[in-house]
Amino acid sequence: MSQNILVVGGAGYIGTVVSDHFLKKGFNVICVDNFLYENSFSIYNLKKNKKFKFILGDLRNKDLINELLDKCDAVIILAGLVGDPITKKYPQISTKINFDGTKKLIENCKNKKIEKVIFVSTCSNYGLSDTNLPLNEEAELKPLSLYAKHKVEIEKYIISQKSSKNFSPTILRFSTAFGLSSRMRYDLTINQFTKSIYFKEKLDVYDSKTWRPYCHVKDFGIALETVLSAEKKLTDFEVFNVGGDQNNFTKKQIVELINKFIPINEVTFTDKTQDPRNYKVNFSKINKLLNFKINFTVEDGIKEIIEYFKKNNEKLETCNDLKFGNYIINKKNL
Ligand SMILES: NC(=O)c1ccc[n+]([C@@H]2O[C@H](COP(=O)([O-])OP(=O)(O)OC[C@H]3O[C@@H](n4cnc5c(N)ncnc54)[C@H](O)[C@@H]3O)[C@@H](O)[C@H]2O)c1
Repeated sequence: MSQNILVVGGAGYIGTVVSDHFLKKGFNVICVDNFLYENSFSIYNLKKNKKFKFILGDLRNKDLINELLDKCDAVIILAGLVGDPITKKYPQISTKINFDGTKKLIENCKNKKIEKVIFVSTCSNYGLSDTNLPLNEEAELKPLSLYAKHKVEIEKYIISQKSSKNFSPTILRFSTAFGLSSRMRYDLTINQFTKSIYFKEKLDVYDSKTWRPYCHVKDFGIALETVLSAEKKLTDFEVFNVGGDQNNFTKKQIVELINKFIPINEVTFTDKTQDPRNYKVNFSKINKLLNFKINFTVEDGIKEIIEYFKKNNEKLETCNDLKFGNYIINKKNL
C-alpha cells in the first residue's frame, strides 16, 4: 500500500479535504498547487501537520514534478481549471493546463513507473442523457463543455496506455461535490443554494428539473483511499463513478431539501436550458467491486453548512468573496 502520496491540486476545494483525510490516516502527503485563485489560506491548518509538505508550483513544471515523483509512490491528480464557466472564460489556459499539461504529467508518472495514479474526472462527461435510467461507466460520453471535453480526452489517453508495464492508473468520475472545505466553493449547486437561501439572497434556479449526482467532499477522501488500498487487479485501468445512488437529485429537489431547514425567501425557477446537463448516475460498480458506500447524504451537507454559518456568525460578504469560487484567475503569467 502506498504511503507517500502526491496530491496535485491539493490546495483546492476537494484537495484540502482529501489531504486532511490521508494525513489523519497516517500517510505522508506532498501537495503541489499553484494557488490559481490566491487560495494559499486553504492550507493553513494542513501545514501544522508534520506529515504534510507543500510545494508551490505548476503541474507543467516537468523538473519539479519529476523531483516530486521520485519521493512518492502514488499520485492523485485533481489540479486544473475546474467547472464549465471558468473553462469557458479562459479556454486557452484551460487547454494548456487541463489537456496539454495533464497529459504530460500522466506521461511522466508512467515514465517514472509510479504504479498507482488516480485521475479525477467528472460525471459531467455524461452530458445530456436521453434516458431516465441512471448511467453506468459503459454509458456513452457526451461532454458538452470544454471542461468535460478535456476530461474525456485525458480519459481516452490513459486507456490508450493499457499495454504499459508498471503503470496502473484508475479513472474516477466524481459527482458534483458539496460540503465544507477550507477552500470553500460557493459556486457549486448545493453550497450556493444553501448560502443564498440562508442569507435571503435572490436565487434564480435554472433548468430546475435537470438531474445530477452529488457527493460530499469527505466521501471523496474515503473513495480515494479505497482505490489506493484495493488490489491492483480491481483498479488497473478501471473507470469508476464516485457517489451514491441516493444522492441523485434535480435542482428543484435540492431547494426543497434546503427548505426543510430554512424558509425560502426569493427563489425563481426558470427552464431556459442555460446549462443543459441532465443525467442520473449509477454507482453500483464502485460499491460491488470495491465495497465503497457514501457516508453523507445531501441533507447532511446542507445541515453542516447551515450549522457552520450559525456557529461562526458568517457574513454574506465573506461567502461572496471571489476567492470562494472558481470565478476569476488573477495570475497573469500562465
Ligand atoms: N468540485 C466538483 O464538484 C467536482 C466534481 C467532479 C470532479 N471534480 C474534479 O475534482 C478536482 C478538484 O476540483 P475542486 O472542486 O477541488 O477544484 P478547485 O478549483 O477548488 O481546485 C483545483 C486546484 O488546482 C490548482 N491548480 C490549478 N491549475 C494548476 C496547475 N497548473 N498546477 C498546479 N495546481 C493547479 C488550483 O490552485 C486549485 O487549488 C478537479 O479535477 C475536478 O475536475 C470536481
